Amino acid sequence: MYTSLIRPLLFQLDPEKAHFVTTILGNALCSIPFAGPRLVQRHAQKWPQLEQELAGITFSNPVGIAAGFDKNGNYTDLLRFLGFGFAEYGSITALPSPGNPRPRLFRLKKDRALINRMGLNNAGAEAICHGIMRQQRQRPELFNGFPGGINIAKTHDPDITGEDAIQDYITSYRLAREPAAWITLNVSCPNTAEGKTFEDKTALKELLDGITSERNEKDPPLLVKFSPDTDQNTVHDLVSICEDCNIQGYVIGNTTTRRDGLRTPGERIEKIGPGGLSGSPLFAGTLRQTSYFRNILPPDRILIACGGIDTPDKAVKLISAGANLLQLYTGLVYEGPALIQKINQVLVDHLNKTGAPSLRHLQHLRQS
Ligand SMILES: Cc1cc2nc3c(=O)[nH]c(=O)nc-3n(C[C@H](O)[C@H](O)[C@H](O)COP(=O)(O)O)c2cc1C
Repeated sequence: MYTSLIRPLLFQLDPEKAHFVTTILGNALCSIPFAGPRLVQRHAQKWPQLEQELAGITFSNPVGIAAGFDKNGNYTDLLRFLGFGFAEYGSITALPSPGNPRPRLFRLKKDRALINRMGLNNAGAEAICHGIMRQQRQRPELFNGFPGGINIAKTHDPDITGEDAIQDYITSYRLAREPAAWITLNVSCPNTAEGKTFEDKTALKELLDGITSERNEKDPPLLVKFSPDTDQNTVHDLVSICEDCNIQGYVIGNTTTRRDGLRTPGERIEKIGPGGLSGSPLFAGTLRQTSYFRNILPPDRILIACGGIDTPDKAVKLISAGANLLQLYTGLVYEGPALIQKINQVLVDHLNKTGAPSLRHLQHLRQS
């Protein structure tokens, strides 16, 4: 029904409006007192074989919504209804930001892809973290069994650099540590006004040293999100720096600034202009990086594969390559919510076929 009826209607709208309409309406419907929670309960399927505990967090299924979909932590009812096993809220930044001027989100239908230059629009770390904590206090059942990570980035302002940039991350970190099940440092947003990311050895080391000096035993696990555009030698060095700073996991990866191999005509791509490309064209790189990271990392590190997941088959490939969890965004736009249940069903079928009792056992099969 989504691809034949709802998607054609939504694709008549500007992409950002379509996102706004579906999330606001969908979440309002799922949070109507009494009826909403019943709807969510009835729809949400249980996948006992897919449940896993990672770094002390229980995930009911391995399919999560990627950062950027729910930047302000407002749509948890909807995300649970859709069948996701977890969410990553954000990116949040220390100061609120309206982001870049519109239009800033574009569909590349022929490539099943999006280009965005949202520019880290969000309501600011304080408002968002307090908002999530308020919901956690008032409606604990909403978050029970549905872990939410918070993704933090540097405020979108080219004048915030050097030590100020690190303090900016630290401000968000201090606010996020209480409501977050884990914190992801987004060091790879391609849509920054200064055109630079933290994927530079010195910059990353300074950032991680700054954050590490803030950390205490009770803090949630810390993950780092990399770009798919970093070459393997640099990735190797950056991971060594992360490992020295006790990073517990990695999200691989963010959107790409590359445009090669697309079916969409070059003139249209040029007309759209700068931004991060997401969706199907990312998949080959995501799979390559997943295998690479799993081979170089200690086995207990959390590996979240993200980029181009739009079929159950791709999900199986990433889990088989060593990902513990999956995140998607663009696949939801093109395939609709049925994709999440389809992925989980095919993962269960795959476990049954291989005789592996759990996702963790698939990793062991890969290593043996
Ligand atoms: C509109 C849009 C906004 C995004 N905003 C963020 C963000 O704020 N922080 C972040 O870490 N990633 C952001 N992303 C990247 C996604 O989290 C994800 O890494 C990327 O889209 C690849 O996954 P996909 O191919 O499943 O979409 C955004 C992606 C899109 C499409």
